[in-house]
Amino acid sequence: MSGAIAWRTPRLCCRLAKPDDAEALWRYRTANREHLAPWEPLRDAAYYTQAHALRSLEEWMVGVARDQAYPILIFDPDEREVCGSFTFSNVVRGPFQACQLGYGLAADRQGQGLMREALAPALDWAFGPLGLHRVMANYLPRNARSGRLLAVLGFEREGLARSYLQIAGTWEDHVLTAKIAPG
Ligand SMILES: CC(C)(COP(=O)(O)OP(=O)(O)OC[C@H]1O[C@@H](n2cnc3c(N)ncnc32)[C@H](O)[C@@H]1OP(=O)(O)O)[C@@H](O)C(=O)NCCC(=O)NCCS
Repeated sequence: MSGAIAWRTPRLCCRLAKPDDAEALWRYRTANREHLAPWEPLRDAAYYTQAHALRSLEEWMVGVARDQAYPILIFDPDEREVCGSFTFSNVVRGPFQACQLGYGLAADRQGQGLMREALAPALDWAFGPLGLHRVMANYLPRNARSGRLLAVLGFEREGLARSYLQIAGTWEDHVLTAKIAPG
């Protein structure tokens, strides 16, 4: 299935990462370190090295082969610069057919509708060829941008989970949302 996981939109190219992308991923991580840190788990210094980016890409490929997670890099149309990423993770099959969705954009790419543009076809793919029934996405109550993005994409609020994830070193409450397969 991995060969087909790619989308072009008017302003973006979204696709599964390849080992060749290590340098571009490393540049994205280091350039956006301060921007992304408040919304992510604590990272150690090694995370911001090119070697770690390569290791991430190798681990991601294993996750895809096992149908566990689908990490997608968002590029400019010329595929040189990573402008963001999103991941369908924790894929569970059987009677659940569900996953979690996480995402992030480069600081200077926010406010242009790019994440919506990337995620709309990706969700069609998740509910179509990937065969999922439910995609769940959770956000910090203070992350208004993330909340707006999910609402626009049709995610519905399901509740508030106390002390749900450790973000930037602190256990944080999260708003739980989900989108169910259409039809
Ligand atoms: C969450 C995040 C991806 C949202 O990015 P974003 O750029 O606001 O998301 P969108 O792609 O939906 O862009 C929508 C914004 O672009 C504006 N916009 C400008 N041009 C647009 C266009 N052509 N089409 C659509 N929207 C456009 C919209 O008005 C909207 O702005 P608003 O929310 O102020 O009204 C981004 O803030 C981010 O990466 N944050 C850090 C990491 C993070 O929080 N991850 C999620 C953890 S839960």
